[in-house]
Amino acid sequence: MTKRGIGFAIVCTFLMLGPANADTIAVIGTGGVGSALGPHFAAAGHTVVYGSRSPETSEVQALVKETGHGATATTQATAAKNADIILLALPWAPTKAIVEGLGDLDGKIIIDPINALAFGPEKSVGLAATPSAAELIQAWAPGAHVIKAFNTLTRAFMVDSTAAGGPITIPLAGNNAEAKARVAALVEAVGLVPLDVGLLDHARAVEAMGQLYVAQGYQGRTRYEFQLRPR
Ligand SMILES: NC(=O)c1ccc[n+]([C@@H]2O[C@H](COP(=O)([O-])OP(=O)(O)OC[C@H]3O[C@@H](n4cnc5c(N)ncnc54)[C@H](OP(=O)(O)O)[C@@H]3O)[C@@H](O)[C@H]2O)c1
Repeated sequence: MTKRGIGFAIVCTFLMLGPANADTIAVIGTGGVGSALGPHFAAAGHTVVYGSRSPETSEVQALVKETGHGATATTQATAAKNADIILLALPWAPTKAIVEGLGDLDGKIIIDPINALAFGPEKSVGLAATPSAAELIQAWAPGAHVIKAFNTLTRAFMVDSTAAGGPITIPLAGNNAEAKARVAALVEAVGLVPLDVGLLDHARAVEAMGQLYVAQGYQGRTRYEFQLRPR
């Protein structure tokens, strides 16, 4: 077979079988973050299932249509049940109850993009979860592999990373190396640059980056990005 023929065969096989590590990804929450990341995950060849409080509404169905690639929407628990990876695209306040309602999460990867913030007087922004949101989620789902990711940039650059005009670093904290590598591949699929910053007990530092990000909004800077360049 010619080189061109081999290339054509590889493309056909990819289209038939999908990427080597195609996962089912439950995107729990169809707001700003879920609707930004879900379409990228689907375009990368993963099966996206939105887990929503109201999967039948026209808004959620419009997101399903926009996402394409066989995406669907269902309840939170049904989405999680069939998933390899779960993105918690949720406000912090209901997260404990939602995680506890998702059923058996053993062996699943949980991506936590949450900024659990406490807003005080005089433009003060504090961290609301101790030791960190990610470690609390890990405690609520001890058999899962929690990875902190995607909390340090604004939604606009999740939708279109090129709009930032330069690379955006996504720090990843988590205890399971294989899970972290799979989340790193998802970060790359969004056009962002993953950086392994160590174990989950570093999540508070990553959450403090989110705190700083939001605090910068009070200074009128709502669209700056983090770029960490290891040498
Ligand atoms: N927006 C950003 O730029 C950004 C950037 C980085 C990190 N984050 C963090 O990512 C998380 C999600 O942010 P987001 O912008 O996607 O938030 P959002 O627009 O408010 O959406 C959150 C989604 O969570 C679901 N949900 C389930 N229970 C809920 C409840 N009791 N109250 C409200 N919503 C509930 C809803 O989806 P259903 O109606 O389908 O259930 C809702 O659309 C937050 O923790 C945020 O701090 C946000």
